[in-house]
Amino acid sequence: MTAGDIVLEARDVSVHFGGLKAVDGMDIEVRRSSVTGLMGPNGAGKTTFFNTLSGHQETVSGVVSLEGEDVTHLAAHARAKLGIARTFQLGGLVDDLTVLENVALGVDHFGRIAGNSVGRQETRARARKWVETFGLGDVVDRIGGDLGAGLRRKAEIARTLAAGAHVVLLDEPAAGLSKAEREDLTVTLREIAEQGKAVLVTDHSTDFLFASADEVVVMNFGTYLFEGTPEEVQKHPDVIRAYLGGGPDA
Ligand SMILES: Nc1ncnc2c1ncn2[C@@H]1O[C@H](COP(=O)(O)OP(=O)(O)OP(=O)(O)O)[C@@H](O)[C@H]1O
Ligand SMILES: [Mg+2]
Repeated sequence: MTAGDIVLEARDVSVHFGGLKAVDGMDIEVRRSSVTGLMGPNGAGKTTFFNTLSGHQETVSGVVSLEGEDVTHLAAHARAKLGIARTFQLGGLVDDLTVLENVALGVDHFGRIAGNSVGRQETRARARKWVETFGLGDVVDRIGGDLGAGLRRKAEIARTLAAGAHVVLLDEPAAGLSKAEREDLTVTLREIAEQGKAVLVTDHSTDFLFASADEVVVMNFGTYLFEGTPEEVQKHPDVIRAYLGGGPDA
């Protein structure tokens, strides 16, 4: 597999809640060594769409494939085993565990799903490497609950990668972060992509999304609206109308 190959793909995916078409015929291509952004207003269906990709939500129609294999009907844990991991909109660090222990949970999980669990010492050693990679060395022994939002987000992503993910789905990772923390997170996402991972990220901070992503997919009312580079997306009249507010004449 080389950089730019499609790793995760959705074709014509729909999710309906009663009469509500939360996701309606969505397509996406998430590529290796790349950050793909997903944007859309509140309620556009971004989280629901993420759930269809990670296996947390059944689809009514459409196909999700991972490296060319149809995973549409695989449960979340089975997809995780194939290397899709995600963070949730409201985060998921264990508050009572240290940063090292939180990341070690990822390492341990990876060992178990890969069928080659390693001992405690080795788990901690591997976790420590991820902690260092993410620049979390200074807070390695702090408990999750004591971390500020920026460090928390980094630790969550470190744990995801420690769990063996090569496709990382991030739902609003910049929520609650300061400008400096958002910029720092952009650097982290670019580094993850450079390591050959495929990153899909959604966020309401458009500055953060445009700075982080190679390609941005725009959705509205559950449907695919447009896709392009951050520059193209910012200029697109439909996007300006639907999301960025006002029209070209406004
Ligand atoms: N489990 C559910 N049952 C019924 N309706 C739901 C369910 N989950 C989401 N919805 C509805 O589906 C639509 C899309 O919601 P979703 O959370 O996917 O949007 P979003 O783009 O992630 O929004 P936000 O930017 O606020 O996070 C909304 O109208 C929401 O109320
Ligand atoms: Mg959401």
